[in-house]
Amino acid sequence: MSEAVIIDTDPGLDDALALFLACASPKLEILGITTVAGNLALSGTTGNALKLLHYLDRNEIPVIAGCAGPLRRESFEVADIHGKDGLGGAELPSPERQALDIHAVEWLGEELLRRPTNTVRILALGPLTNLAHLVESRPAAAKRISGIVAMGGAVREAGNVTEFAEFNIATDPEAAAIVFGSGIPVTLVPLDVTRKVLADREWNAALLAGGGRIARMANGLIEAYLRNLVARRVAKGASTHGLAAKFPMHDPCVILHALDPSFFRAEDLPLRVVTDGFERDGATVIDPHSKSLVEVLTGVDGDHALAFILERLTALP
Ligand code: BDR
Ligand code: CA
Repeated sequence: MSEAVIIDTDPGLDDALALFLACASPKLEILGITTVAGNLALSGTTGNALKLLHYLDRNEIPVIAGCAGPLRRESFEVADIHGKDGLGGAELPSPERQALDIHAVEWLGEELLRRPTNTVRILALGPLTNLAHLVESRPAAAKRISGIVAMGGAVREAGNVTEFAEFNIATDPEAAAIVFGSGIPVTLVPLDVTRKVLADREWNAALLAGGGRIARMANGLIEAYLRNLVARRVAKGASTHGLAAKFPMHDPCVILHALDPSFFRAEDLPLRVVTDGFERDGATVIDPHSKSLVEVLTGVDGDHALAFILERLTALP
């Protein structure tokens, strides 16, 4: 039997890979894709979601645009590891359809109230702005969510936008704090595990060799990321000698967990999100005084995870 899910996302190269993986998995019934500002401005992430679904031949899945910026603060400039278009310059045709003419938070509220309670899970691949907005403005609907699996945070690991903070949480820390404290069961997929599911060029070559046009697209997206990684190091004046360029499967790990949690080890941890605007802003800290108990993924079988993703993506047309 399949599980009803809604994917909240900001595509994004690894978001694209996550969408490919979700669409390759009949176990997931994707009710809709809600978009949020993050890797790009909202118009960019929404346009990319539409283009990706079109490429996947899944134009029946609705796309609904959500929040254009963080709940209570200004957005910050994003370093363009995903390329200026968020998809590394991939040539993807735009479909004729557009996003639905309703705000994602409204749509989420209606969809959740329409369906039996505890039957819809949210897979969150970007900043948690839409979901925090839902918790605040439609609490009765939000309570019906069976669980949220969210990529974000760095718990016993360094961050990726600062030494302390990971991008999705750093972009909207107040939103993360609201979602973690909402009482909805949250599973956090932090850098602690996503940095251990690393696709290297050999894996990417196997993807290209074994798959069809969707695997070819995925291969191109990963190559674009690896090129940007090297270009960034060169721009910083750092050496690329011996640099093992690898693609971290951040957002695909959310889908992987939804499909089979046994790839991961998890701990229930009291988490606090730092929202003070200082050096540790956006950090996800273990704090015994916090009332936000979150299931945090802290270990992963990276090799098996990569083999599974490869098998799924190469099975796509
Ligand atoms: C997260 O930040 C984004 O750039 C990626 O898409 C992923 O969701 C990783 O920190
Ligand atoms: Ca993302």
